[in-house]
Amino acid sequence: MDLLWNDRRTRQFVTNVGLITSAGALGPNIMAAEWTHHISYSPSLIAANIRGHNATAQNIKESKEFGVSIAAENQNVICSIAGKYKGIHVDKISVLTIYQ
Ligand SMILES: Cc1cc2nc3c(=O)[nH]c(=O)nc-3n(C[C@H](O)[C@H](O)[C@H](O)COP(=O)(O)O)c2cc1C
Repeated sequence: MDLLWNDRRTRQFVTNVGLITSAGALGPNIMAAEWTHHISYSPSLIAANIRGHNATAQNIKESKEFGVSIAAENQNVICSIAGKYKGIHVDKISVLTIYQ
């Protein structure tokens, strides 16, 4: 199938969703990142593409560390909350702790 540049159908592709955890001035945080890929076995490397203005990106720049989990099929609600709300506005970890 030929898809033109910026064809919205590319947004329908099935992907995994990475859950990126981090900590910083605002406390612990979680975001959804479908642009999370295993890119090498040896050395073992994972690439996560995170927009620079996100709270997650700010946390990682400060702490130089983060966690990566690949969401299971039944964790779609976690992905939606982690991906819809911004850590600068919402304490997503507390919300999800109550949800669990
Ligand atoms: C399913 C899903 C996948 C997402 N994938 C990405 C991604 O790969 N990279 C990214 O920068 N944002 C992605 N987002 C958007 C961020 O999760 C969203 O902007 C989030 O609010 C950022 O959280 P933070 O500001 O607390 O860091 C995705 C959102 C959803 C719902």
